[in-house]
Amino acid sequence: MLIGKNNLDKLKSKNGVHFLKDINMIGLISDTHIPEAGKSLWPEVIRIFKEVDLILHAGDMHDLSVLKELEEIAPVLACRGNGDDGSSGRPIMPSHPSVETNQLLHVNAFSIGLTHSFIFDSRLGISIDNQMQEKFNQNVDIVVAGDTHVPLVQPISDSSYIINSGSALLPYNFNPQLGTVGFIEFNGSKSFDMWIEVLHE
Ligand SMILES: [Fe+2]
Repeated sequence: MLIGKNNLDKLKSKNGVHFLKDINMIGLISDTHIPEAGKSLWPEVIRIFKEVDLILHAGDMHDLSVLKELEEIAPVLACRGNGDDGSSGRPIMPSHPSVETNQLLHVNAFSIGLTHSFIFDSRLGISIDNQMQEKFNQNVDIVVAGDTHVPLVQPISDSSYIINSGSALLPYNFNPQLGTVGFIEFNGSKSFDMWIEVLHE
């Protein structure tokens, strides 16, 4: 692992662009909606992320306390969700050095764009390339998104994929319950695997 736990300074670079090496496993979490969905993360989240080198939160934190909980496990980067910016009359979440509107990561040989909402249904006529340029200033190999509370992993072009880890506390926008998280595991600079896991006791 390149970065020590709680050592966020080594993660930071300018304007939400990060260059990271020797990352084996990234934990993905989104739409934790604290305190609406609960006072804190389920202990199952802490347990399932114990092997990760880095955590990405895809927005709708609502309260920055969730970052503190996650930083106990591994360094965290996050993006702002609509619920962090006042949607439905919620208070606007304060700024935080680990949180940007969108983030671009270069991990091993791959580029990852972290954003809350990413539209990839071609029937809606919204260009994937344009969204990538707008959000990350480049095309990326992996888009990590949230917003829908519905987990998915799928290709969105010949060379890129999207992974949405759903919601760890409000899966499918149901009542608070054990939800879903995601993982990206790298095989050095050669390849990566991505998957979703359902939290369980
Ligand atoms: Fe949400």
